[in-house]
Amino acid sequence: MSRIAYVNGRYVNHRDACVHIEDRGYQLSDAVYEVVTVCEGRVVDRTGHLARLERSLKELRIPMPMSRRVFELVIDQMIRRNRLRNGLVYFQVSRGVAPRDHAFPANIRPSVVMTVKHIDPRIGREKGEKGVKVITYPDKRWLRRDIKTVGLLWNVLAKQAAREAGAYEAFLVDEDGFVTEGSSTNAWIVDEDGNLVTRQADDLILRGITRLAVMELAREQGIEIVERPFTVEELKNARGVFLTSSNSFVMPVVQVDDTVIGNGKPLEMIERLRSLYYAYMQQEQAEKAAGF
Ligand code: PDD
Repeated sequence: MSRIAYVNGRYVNHRDACVHIEDRGYQLSDAVYEVVTVCEGRVVDRTGHLARLERSLKELRIPMPMSRRVFELVIDQMIRRNRLRNGLVYFQVSRGVAPRDHAFPANIRPSVVMTVKHIDPRIGREKGEKGVKVITYPDKRWLRRDIKTVGLLWNVLAKQAAREAGAYEAFLVDEDGFVTEGSSTNAWIVDEDGNLVTRQADDLILRGITRLAVMELAREQGIEIVERPFTVEELKNARGVFLTSSNSFVMPVVQVDDTVIGNGKPLEMIERLRSLYYAYMQQEQAEKAAGF
């Protein structure tokens, strides 16, 4: 079966899908995106992702190209036309196509593209059972990381450094030695008192949708959550470490640079959160982050 992509109102063969070379997303990174998980044919936290998309667009003064309801319909069509059971839907909205100029051109219509990726759910599960390694890497990105733009160059360099070090992810560290987030994930530790610590959702991190869902699940378990920055030293001495994202779910971290975390196995509490998140994704209506 051929893969289908969506480009500005049309469903086309993936290999034929294209946008104009003067699309501002291509030339200026003047675009935002979302990645949503599809589990057993259903989108996880669809409302939260669309709310975040709308917010990112508003921050950049790009008009919403179609209503949330129509976005939902297009996502559903993409799942159906690609017979997607488990995987991801990627969608991107750019300011549109115009002769290159830094300032916004007048009378321009946003471009919308959407693609899907099939993922065998067993792959992530195996990694999740053992836990992964992360490296630390300086955070030299711009200061509006709450906007989910396609301007990801520093994240790309950080992830590549992780790959070359045989690691799964790079945790980014600011000038004062505090961890902000991963190159494409949010970062968490379990402190000495068994509380979950993750950075507060300010401009310096992406407000992860998985982060919000995991917070709700943890609270339901009576686990306390402290939203504050934590240092690399706290990270390396934590009882447990994990990361979250729409494609990594809840992923235990068992090594940071050369330091083994705890006994080198995922902490029981993190295992529990991982299972709870899997169960949550299987639900008919997985919408915990709707209040984004
Ligand atoms: N990345 N932080 C950054 C910098 C991210 O790019 C992402 C998501 C997250 C986690 O957000 P969420 O839980 O909403 O997926 C945090 C996506 C998956 C990507 O770029 O592919």
